Amino acid sequence: MTQDEMKKEAGWAALKYVEAGAIVGVGTGSTVNHFIDALGTMSDKIKGAVSSSIASTEKLEKLGIKVFDCNDVASLDVYVDGADEINANKEMIKGGGAALTREKIVAAISDKFICIVDGTKAVEVLGEFPLPVEVIPMARSYVARELVKLGGDPVYREGVITDNGNIILDVHSLKINNAKQLEDQVNALPGVVTVGLFAHRGADVVITGTPDGAKIEE
Ligand code: 5RP
Repeated sequence: MTQDEMKKEAGWAALKYVEAGAIVGVGTGSTVNHFIDALGTMSDKIKGAVSSSIASTEKLEKLGIKVFDCNDVASLDVYVDGADEINANKEMIKGGGAALTREKIVAAISDKFICIVDGTKAVEVLGEFPLPVEVIPMARSYVARELVKLGGDPVYREGVITDNGNIILDVHSLKINNAKQLEDQVNALPGVVTVGLFAHRGADVVITGTPDGAKIEE
């Protein structure tokens, strides 16, 4: 089974957490794209979605799913999103698709975070995948110097501007043993919009696509 087929297993399995009449929080990425395809089969049964990116919004709307402004929705029952890495505590690195800030906002208003991944995303220690940090453009060099002081090796993601008009620094060479502490430290730097560590608000449910089907951990 290919990696994409495992992503599809996970994406479609998440549909069981969507109830009729719901507004669903929808993340971003290739695994989520499979979930959106699945959600399309329920487009007449749900009220709509709150989306974490322009790309997901476009895909949702093409399938006839109404996308609500996050400001008009006080809370969501479920948020479905992928991850770049996830550990046994259900803490994640996200932002490979540069949508980390909006993802964190939608996750924050959601009661349940359903993380959909293929088996390659599970790690013992977070940090092999470079940690994305969204930064206001004028703070790029300052924040990079501070990230070096925190033990990282930041690399400017050339040619990428986020949906919010900012840049991404990908921080290499980290071994993240205290994800909550690092999340706080990076978020406290002036000019940082969001770090792609989802530790304070980790996942509640992990659905892993495997050659034997989807494995669900609650
Ligand atoms: C986007 C994300 C994605 O969830 C993450 O990059 C995983 O992507 P994929 O499902 O394509 O492997 O955080 O910002």
